[in-house]
Amino acid sequence: MPGHTAIRYIDLFCGIGGFRYAMMDAAKRRGLTATCALSSDIDKRCQKAYAANFGETPLGDITAINGDDAPDHDLLLAGFPCQPFSILGHRKGFEDTRGTLFFEIARILQAKKPAAFALENVKLLVGHNRGRTIARIMETLAELGYHAEFRVLNALHFGLPQKRERVFIVGFREKRAFAWPEGKVEMTPLSRILEKNAPKEYYASEHIRRRRLDRHEPTDEPTIWHENKSGHVSAHPYSCALRAGASHNYLLVNGERRLTPREMLRLQGFPDSFRIVGSYFQTRKQAGNSLPAPVAAAVLERVMAACGWGRDSKLLDNGHLHAGRSLGDHGQSQIDGL
Ligand SMILES: C[S@@+](CC[C@H](N)C(=O)[O-])C[C@H]1O[C@@H](n2cnc3c(N)ncnc32)[C@H](O)[C@@H]1O
Repeated sequence: MPGHTAIRYIDLFCGIGGFRYAMMDAAKRRGLTATCALSSDIDKRCQKAYAANFGETPLGDITAINGDDAPDHDLLLAGFPCQPFSILGHRKGFEDTRGTLFFEIARILQAKKPAAFALENVKLLVGHNRGRTIARIMETLAELGYHAEFRVLNALHFGLPQKRERVFIVGFREKRAFAWPEGKVEMTPLSRILEKNAPKEYYASEHIRRRRLDRHEPTDEPTIWHENKSGHVSAHPYSCALRAGASHNYLLVNGERRLTPREMLRLQGFPDSFRIVGSYFQTRKQAGNSLPAPVAAAVLERVMAACGWGRDSKLLDNGHLHAGRSLGDHGQSQIDGL
């Protein structure tokens, strides 16, 4: 559909809208009007946060959405959950994915045949079951008539001070000249992400702080200290991947305090205009489950370019942009308002 100036997309497993921000950003850069025709997430708290920010309450359980009833769309987006894929057996393709949430995506692709899709999942998916799981997914997508490919991308290479590796899978009904983003964006320094006067409640106990200091030297520049499962503490000028279910003190700023909800959202590239409506624990889970929006925006911009949607744009990821650039529709930097 070359020359398109307006497209429709659907936002499945939408969480708190990481893909949606990415879509808004990429579409804006290409002068494209992108309308969300359907969003879905089973989690009521995510629905509430999404509604507070995008003015619509997502539909619930995707398994209850009939493929034929889904609205027509050009682009399907889905950051589907990293549920265990051990369920995939020995048969090939589509039928074998039944019982997984990937199957729900596949049946909507089958029913609605959008021109393109972009999916996101954890890096582990690529190595799972010695590569058989991703192979089965790719086979299924080919069986549905899509030219699909996948790549692991790291948020650190797209301006975010967070080491977060995720697999993106993109696919096109017609063969397209698609090129993955290069990821040469300068990293935003942590000092521009961290809030100046974090409230006392975020500080770890004296006992925990001392235990950290026993194992690591503080530095002048801010660092985020990460304790792994075996108790080893490392400190970096970026964050290790936010995780929804991590222990309370998994990441400590300068070895002394937890990240605030706003900092976690910034680490995922959400704009400060994002309204936080849940508790600390809910936002921590939501931010940990979310996707790094600038990475997704760079991928989507390439998908739009490959489909010939909108006008040519100076690509997001080619290293010419300033670190900490804005995301979203508000024209406000993610670091404003600190
Ligand atoms: C990895 S998170 C995706 C987050 C999203 N990409 C974002 O940026 O916030 C997966 C989401 O799938 C949702 N989910 C799990 N099972 C679902 C189902 N059966 N129907 C709809 N959503 C579901 C979860 O509630 C969770 O928010």
